[in-house]
Amino acid sequence: MKKQMVTTKRSLTLETEERLNQQILLEGKSSAYYLSMASWCDTKGYSTSSDFLYRHSEEERQHMLKLFGYVNDAGGHALQPEITGIPHDFKSLREIFELILEHEIEVTKSINELVDHCFSIKDFTTFHFLQWYVIEQREEETLSRRALELFDIIGEDGVGLWTIDQEIGNLENFIQKSGPGNMDAPN
Ligand code: FEO
Repeated sequence: MKKQMVTTKRSLTLETEERLNQQILLEGKSSAYYLSMASWCDTKGYSTSSDFLYRHSEEERQHMLKLFGYVNDAGGHALQPEITGIPHDFKSLREIFELILEHEIEVTKSINELVDHCFSIKDFTTFHFLQWYVIEQREEETLSRRALELFDIIGEDGVGLWTIDQEIGNLENFIQKSGPGNMDAPN
């Protein structure tokens, strides 16, 4: 049955809706990017990193769905993003974590711009909703930096890469997830 629009009145502006859809695209890209990385790790025998990245890919999908829920509840229309251009090959395990950190810094920048926009037009509802992402980004950047530090601390020679792969599995325990950063199902 076709959903009936009871009222078209809303406080979410069209520009904010468009920006939120851009963020949906970025979260969707993150999910696809990490899925591709997970698969590459799997084929190279980095099984712990692979599991870590499969989980991370799923988390990014949850980030995207949380935005879907918000946009539609606010009277907008969340759009299924078109995602292309995701690489399938990577030079090394280290490169993967360098790319993740780079990517997460871009995501943080995008969230900050979105938050700034909401503040400037006094859309405090969306501003408040986005605080979850602000906190999440801090954790995600920390996680990526800690992963890269493993390469410097342990070194990649001999059993180094194997050890690094094992340690990647402990990173999530290292980063205390609490409050709005918890990876519960979107609501
Ligand atoms: Fe949802 Fe890692 O940005």
